[in-house]
Amino acid sequence: TSGGSDAAKRRAGESAAETVADGEVVGLGTGSTAAHAIRRLGDRVGSGLDIRGVATSFASRELAADCGIPLLDLDEAAGPDAPGIDVAIDGADQVAVGGGEDDGPTAGPLIKGGGAAHAREKLVDAAADRFLVVADPSKETPVLDRPVPVEVLPAGRTAVAEAVRATGGEPALRRAERKDGPVVTDNGNLVLDCAFGAIDDPGALATTLATTPGVVEHGVFVDLADEVHVGTETGVRVARR
Ligand code: A5P
Repeated sequence: TSGGSDAAKRRAGESAAETVADGEVVGLGTGSTAAHAIRRLGDRVGSGLDIRGVATSFASRELAADCGIPLLDLDEAAGPDAPGIDVAIDGADQVAVGGGEDDGPTAGPLIKGGGAAHAREKLVDAAADRFLVVADPSKETPVLDRPVPVEVLPAGRTAVAEAVRATGGEPALRRAERKDGPVVTDNGNLVLDCAFGAIDDPGALATTLATTPGVVEHGVFVDLADEVHVGTETGVRVARR
C-alpha cells in the first residue's frame, strides 16, 4: 500500500522476525511489510522455532498457515488462563518518528488501517507485551497527516460522517477496487477515510473518535509501538519508545 521498495520492507520485516524467541506467542500483522516478517517466521519454524501465531486478518491467517506457523485464536491467546501475546509485528501506513538526537529516534503514534484490518490489529497489537512496527522510510513523518481509517457499523455511516465533519474532518467512504460498492471489513463493517490535515494531538483525536457512537475502531495507534524497524536500501534503523 505504499511507495517503499520491497527490499526495504523485507529488511524491516525480517529484522523484527529475528527478535522472536522460542516459545513465544506472536501477533501476525497485515500488509506487505508484515508479510515479510511472517515468511521469515515460517522459515524459522521450518528450522525448529517453536512459536504460535495470532493472526490480525483473513490475509495474515492464510499466509501464516501457508508458511507452516501454528495458529491460536485471539480468544485462546488472551483469556485468563491463556499464554498471552509476547510480541506483535505489524506494519503501518504512517509512523511519527521523533528526532531524539541523544538516544536515537523515538517511536511515536501511528496511522493504520490502509488494509481495513485495524480493528483486529489494534486488539492484537495492544495485547502484546512488545509491539514492533515494521516500515519503509516512506512511512516516516514528523507529524501524522494521512487520512485516518475509521471502521463504522453500516447503520452508523452517516451519523459518524457528520460527527467527523463537526470536528473539522472530511470523511470519504472507502470504495472497493474490484467491485461496485464499498469495502466491507473482515468484521462486516464499512470504512470512512477521514482527512484531518496535520494531526497535532493524536491522543485527543483518538479519544474523540473512540467515543463517537457507531465507530467500531479507528486507525490512530497511540502509545502502543515499542519499536519501529525501518528498512532502508542498505540496512535497518530501529526507533524506540
Ligand atoms: C492494514 O490495515 C494496515 O494497518 C497495514 O498494516 C498497513 O496498510 C501497512 O501495509 P504495507 O506494509 O503493505 O504498507
